[in-house]
Amino acid sequence: MPKWFVGWVSRRYVAGTKLSDAVKVMQRLSKEGACFTIDVLGEEITSMEEATFFLEEYKRVISAIIENDLDSNLSIKPTAFGLLLDREKGMENIETLVKMAQGYDMFVRLDMEDHRVTEDTIQVMLDMHQKGLTNVGVVLQGRLFRTLDDIERIKEILGPNADYRICKGIYLEPEEISHTDRKPIIDATNKCIDAMLDAGAYVGVASHDYPVVNHTIAALESRGMGPNKSDPRKNAGPPRKQKGPGYEFQMLLGVRGPMRRKLAAQGHTTRVYIPYGEKWYEYSIRRLQENPTIGTQVAKAFLMPWTNRP
Ligand code: FDA
Repeated sequence: MPKWFVGWVSRRYVAGTKLSDAVKVMQRLSKEGACFTIDVLGEEITSMEEATFFLEEYKRVISAIIENDLDSNLSIKPTAFGLLLDREKGMENIETLVKMAQGYDMFVRLDMEDHRVTEDTIQVMLDMHQKGLTNVGVVLQGRLFRTLDDIERIKEILGPNADYRICKGIYLEPEEISHTDRKPIIDATNKCIDAMLDAGAYVGVASHDYPVVNHTIAALESRGMGPNKSDPRKNAGPPRKQKGPGYEFQMLLGVRGPMRRKLAAQGHTTRVYIPYGEKWYEYSIRRLQENPTIGTQVAKAFLMPWTNRP
């Protein structure tokens, strides 16, 4: 695919190449009542020097969030910090960043990559908690068969300190370990949302899909949860700084803005995922290769813009 075309398309979904681009986008979207999570583009790396680059760049991100008084946390990919190259050093890098973030009362989300690193990513999160770094949470993917068991296991270890992002999962995983059709993926994701809410965890629902968002709203209502209400769950922890009352909705930059603005107008906490960085081309191409349906969604957004406004 020509680079100019990918660049043109990704302008909507990527804040820019520089941190200052991401700051500008967040300042603009703050006016829509959104809060944010920032992702420096890049993932599986080939040298530990690259891991150092990510660590240093994320330190700059923390400083920019503080200097510009932005309501934002961080999303990191453990493999970008070296987890698959040198586990010990990768863990050390992640710990350094999470400690720095903790100093500012800032939360760090571990994005979930493909099934090769599911267990490792959960383990990194649990290790951080064991070290007293409770400002870290993981992403779980509804499409994976294992996810309900993971929720149960994490509940036993962390109780109300568990803080999730739940999404369908972007990677097309083998059918031996995951659902592969749309309806079963939606149903499984919704079951995970219920299990997380019942476990007293903080739940960030990351979806632009009506059956997931509508299910979440009904699930919240049936538990007495919702906008402008304190979390009534007996097994939930105390309120969290810069977060919703036990839950929030999360969406990608440039995707289904009207849905996000409607949820925000109803009082729900809405968080926008803001990717930026020099690696925008690799990021866009990799996402397309991993899941070609994104190409269809992007094409639809251009040809039928009323179906998906930024
Ligand atoms: P669905 O794919 O049905 O999308 C509903 C509609 O939203 C589409 O019809 C289209 O209009 C629009 N849309 C959705 N995604 C789009 C896109 N990329 N570009 C253009 N339009 C799009 N996955 C993962 O494996 N690990 C992770 O850590 C994360 N993190 C993450 C954070 C946040 C904030 C979000 C919103 C999503 C993720 N994901 C993720 C991706 C997630 O797993 C899933 O692949 C996408 O959200 C698409 O699924 P939906 O539930 O949105 O439904």
